[in-house]
Amino acid sequence: MSSTGFSRTDHGLVCDGVALSAIAERVGTPVYVYSAAAIRARFQDIDQAFHGYPHSLHYALKANSTFAIAALLKTLGSAADANSVWEIDLARRVGFEPQDIVFTGVGKSNSELECAVPLGLKAINVESAGELSRIETIAERLGRPARVAVRVNPDIDAQSHPHISTGLKINKFGVDVAAARELFASLTSRSFLKLVAVHVHIGSQITSLAPLRRAARFVAGLTAELQQSGHHLEYVDVGGGLGISYDGKDVVSPADYVEALVDEVRPTGLPIVVEPGRSMVGPASALIARILDIKPRTASSDFAVIDAGMTELMRPALYNAFHRIEPVQLRPGAAHQYEIVGPVCESSDVVGRDRMLSPLEANDLVAIHDTGAYGSAMASNYNRRPLPAEVMVDHGEWRVIRRRQTIDDMLSLETM
Ligand code: LLP
Repeated sequence: MSSTGFSRTDHGLVCDGVALSAIAERVGTPVYVYSAAAIRARFQDIDQAFHGYPHSLHYALKANSTFAIAALLKTLGSAADANSVWEIDLARRVGFEPQDIVFTGVGKSNSELECAVPLGLKAINVESAGELSRIETIAERLGRPARVAVRVNPDIDAQSHPHISTGLKINKFGVDVAAARELFASLTSRSFLKLVAVHVHIGSQITSLAPLRRAARFVAGLTAELQQSGHHLEYVDVGGGLGISYDGKDVVSPADYVEALVDEVRPTGLPIVVEPGRSMVGPASALIARILDIKPRTASSDFAVIDAGMTELMRPALYNAFHRIEPVQLRPGAAHQYEIVGPVCESSDVVGRDRMLSPLEANDLVAIHDTGAYGSAMASNYNRRPLPAEVMVDHGEWRVIRRRQTIDDMLSLETM
């Protein structure tokens, strides 16, 4: 357990010394609260575990690209992994240099590639023969070779939720090994494409070491093969995927993860590129919501209707994901069973099922934990609900890093 982030004191739950109730009073709810210290700690845990082995951490912006979060990671020395030209744009505005950005994504449009190729990114991680040809056409027109990595689908089971497993042949991601070998062979004579790496990413929220190690072994093996046949590769890209503990059970530690990566990749003599998203920011945030109503459900449980739901945090509805929930202030009395539900008109809008919590009353605040990754980034305007506010706590001070969206913000895009 890290000493940074969220803890309980006499003032209820606090984030690095700041009472969550004070933030909620001022900013309203729902609000995402982030601990800068926790993000720093997570970054350093992974970074330092390399013990000097050459590497770069390309933070996967898709996990959370709120400007201040991306900017904090930049100041820590992170590079970036962007999944769309808009994430590239965000990264550039934050200050990431093109050579610090890899561009991933299974469907890059022509207009995205027209923007991305001239930038001279560290690599475009290519997902198909067709995409490679589209990049080649643009590079040829520009008269400058494009740096590419090929994403290979290793047919490895990440043993994670099927919606976030990407490394099986049946998944839409990457090219299979046979097709990749054909691409590699063709690349020796395509002068407007420069192959700089092989890339693999088998999925997200991976909690055991074996699949991560197998993926690293696979990509390192393929890299070594290419080196022997005369390709001058620059690094090995092992993707992201390291899971976090949502329920308190043990997961792979950053130290064990990195040790396995270094073990597998060292024979190639090349630096390691990692694209961690969730493991950097996931544990660093709680979504604070207010209870709107308590109403009876079964003989032994009640509904607690809160002002955050699948619009603010889609993970429970989409993947049946578990997020720990607790009251900001504890009330005395025996624990009671609650179904914590959101305000959206969908039966799947349940944030926490069958939770045993100290007694709750309308107007109480609850904290939904470990929402830093794929929380605010996946929020929507369904039911015309505004995107929530976001707050960063740093060195005992806090500031709004994204104000709550208004109906005017939403309608400013629309006409009669
Ligand atoms: N690299 C690539 C190519 C990816 O597709 C992803 C995530 C990452 C890196 C970062 O993976 P991470 O370290 O965060 O596991 N919305 C889902 C997760 C989707 C992950 C998509 N790709 C969730 O809420 O669980």
